[in-house]
Amino acid sequence: MDKLVIEGGLPLEGEVPVSGAKNAALALMAATLIAGGKHRLDHVPRLRDIRTMELLLEHMGAVCHHNDHLVIDTGNIHCLEAPYDLVKTMRASVMVLGPMVARFRRARVSLPGGCAIGARPINLHLKGLEQLGVGIELDHGYVVAKADRLRGAVIPFDQVTVTGTENLMMAATLAEGVTVLRNAAREPEVVALAEYLRRMGAQIRGEGTSEIVIEGVKELVPASFRVIPDRIEAGTYLVAAGITGGNLKVTGCRPEHLDAVMGKLELAGMTFQVSGDSIQATGTGQIRSINLKTWPFPGFPTDMQAQFMALMCLGNGVSLITEQIFENRFMHVLELKRLGADIELDGRSAVVKGVRGLSGAPVMATDLRASASLVLAGLAAEGITEVNRIYHLDRGYEAIEKKLSAVGARIWRERGV
Ligand code: EPZ
Repeated sequence: MDKLVIEGGLPLEGEVPVSGAKNAALALMAATLIAGGKHRLDHVPRLRDIRTMELLLEHMGAVCHHNDHLVIDTGNIHCLEAPYDLVKTMRASVMVLGPMVARFRRARVSLPGGCAIGARPINLHLKGLEQLGVGIELDHGYVVAKADRLRGAVIPFDQVTVTGTENLMMAATLAEGVTVLRNAAREPEVVALAEYLRRMGAQIRGEGTSEIVIEGVKELVPASFRVIPDRIEAGTYLVAAGITGGNLKVTGCRPEHLDAVMGKLELAGMTFQVSGDSIQATGTGQIRSINLKTWPFPGFPTDMQAQFMALMCLGNGVSLITEQIFENRFMHVLELKRLGADIELDGRSAVVKGVRGLSGAPVMATDLRASASLVLAGLAAEGITEVNRIYHLDRGYEAIEKKLSAVGARIWRERGV
């Protein structure tokens, strides 16, 4: 298994380009199943998860060509099954459920099972589909979905779910009548999906608010779309400037997607200059310890919690970080402590006492954002940090060592055995 080797202690200076958003691209790729034919997606990042979704779509009969853009031809879907061996490596595979039910009225999708950061059930996805008239059965670890017809319904989500909102929005596009999603996710990736579905002929309004209304139509047609920039990748590089006391211009991003992140980082002592699609981020050397609670968009994103914690390890006091979305998203804590961090866990909260400095050591990546947190800590730590099992990182960060090396980091990949 590959590892990243980092020699820390150097302030980063320069420009970092942001890639297309993984979580937006995955939803858009699933949506191509709703309309048979050639779809074109631009600015799709080259990531493991994207390749996994391509493999899943190809397993179902789609044809994918990923050159400088991604063309997906879903004109000949002959298999309506998402098999366990693919779903277990990427939970986002469950997003093919809504599109398949919409177009084919049938689907057989492996239950995703748990993951490092929590149980992550899909009960809200299934409950919503049943409200649309879909019969749901569980059979040997698979969800078997069947419907004679889909009828619009009012679907109140017990809690905000990003892919749940996306799955139901896609399923509702071809249902008879009107569907209302209440307590819907407001994430930018949901908004992007709604815009793409509208280009395909869907009747959708209210995306970006907690109530989305979908008026079913007879069919959708293939369309093209440019994937929005990855706000979590961008936020990760903002923290890289703060934790190294450097100065980075993060380019090709959507600053309005990072209001909550920049707000908290400003309180932590960073300064920002926003200009168009770029953010100039400056670490002032003095990191202030502040408290944090994660929350659905427009709140502070859970996908930035681990990265923020790495910064707080070097704060000037005590920071209370509360993870309110997932029940086990502190896998990075034990590894940060190996680098000299002072963190105590208390249920859903972590108490981070700032230390004067971190010292490099071998650490283990456990999930995508925990890996990013360890890279950030390694960039600040004195000496050499080795981040092992970086296949987690490769799921969500395109060419991270190239982007960091280009702004002065001493970081390189060592091929594992
Ligand atoms: C999406 O996951 C993202 N993944 C996650 O990003 C992100 O952390 C998460 O949203 C929260 O923002 C993709 O978009 C592919 P949820 P998702 O449904 O949709 C509970 C990353 O790092 N829940 O919004 O799976 C659930 O257990 C990944 O890129 C139910 O109980 O998350 C969690 O506690 C990690 N039942 C909470 O809701 C359900 O049916 C929010 O989960 C659905 C969700």
